Amino acid sequence: YRQEIAAIVPNGADSLEAYRIRFLGTKGIVKNLFTEMKNVPGDKKREFGQILNEFKQLAESTYENWKNRLDVGVAGQVKSIDLSLPGDALPLGTHHPITLVRDRIVHIFGRLGFSVAEGPEIEDDWHNFTALNLPENHPARDMQDTFYIHQNPDWLLRTHTSSVQARAMERQKPPIRIICPGRVYRNETISARAHCFFHQTEGLYVDENVSFADLKQTLYFFVQELFGKDVRIRFRPSYFPFTEPSAEMDINCRICGGSGCAVCKHTGWVEILGSGMVHPKMLENFGIDSNKYTGFAFGMGIERICQLQYRVNDLRLYSQNDVRFLKQFTGAV
Ligand code: PHE
Repeated sequence: YRQEIAAIVPNGADSLEAYRIRFLGTKGIVKNLFTEMKNVPGDKKREFGQILNEFKQLAESTYENWKNRLDVGVAGQVKSIDLSLPGDALPLGTHHPITLVRDRIVHIFGRLGFSVAEGPEIEDDWHNFTALNLPENHPARDMQDTFYIHQNPDWLLRTHTSSVQARAMERQKPPIRIICPGRVYRNETISARAHCFFHQTEGLYVDENVSFADLKQTLYFFVQELFGKDVRIRFRPSYFPFTEPSAEMDINCRICGGSGCAVCKHTGWVEILGSGMVHPKMLENFGIDSNKYTGFAFGMGIERICQLQYRVNDLRLYSQNDVRFLKQFTGAV
């Protein structure tokens, strides 16, 4: 009988009841064994009684354990869970560094009254190029190696978030004050310094009396909020077909502090964004009166800012999904 009990695999309520009747019922095995007591010779009674009591306990505790296990599984009858026990900690994930930096950028501009706008990653030629003053065969198109969809020259993966500027001007009248984070694509060979996709944040402000001084002050405020009050900036004249005048903005290198390193190519300065006053032709493309309204725009690469903030020197790390890399950003804000 002991072996029979040891071999039990506790399952449903029916087999538990069958077990109870067989071992513990009024005509069950335990009861029967006790009635055998009278046939045991006097000098063996003590020993027999002991064995019998042990067996009875085994049969009863097996019943109780089995019953408890069943109760736990039955809704509304949970008896054997100790609700006062501390819970098991769930492992928490971490934010991706690109997400962290994007959210910080959006937050800083949010405080200046910029709201988030988004656009499609699969774009048409008009919103990515032509509306931005980059007509067909414009040499500046070659600066951005474009992925076309099904070889159709009209459908492409956006090469910059400036397409979202175009969509915003199409949709709304000034004042426009938007920040547009998103993924962009360029047909580049993948290496530590280039990837076929990366992330940008575009900014656009169109209203009456918007000046280049507003552009400078806004971007200066932005980098101070992001990197600290000691940050220094410089503007270099540049060229973008959709802004006039155009400028690129550098900040003093956060990696080497000016002593020279690979990131700033030993110049002490790192380029972080392109910017300029919205080209009047672009405003007119969307029916915005360029005599009444002016605007500024800028676009920055999120990976570059991430590199300066977290010293990530290989662009491929961002998309390899290596947990050893990603979990280093626990608690980062
Ligand atoms: N779209 C430009 C780029 O991808 C950046 C830019 C945006 C420049 C807005 C000026 C104004 O390089």
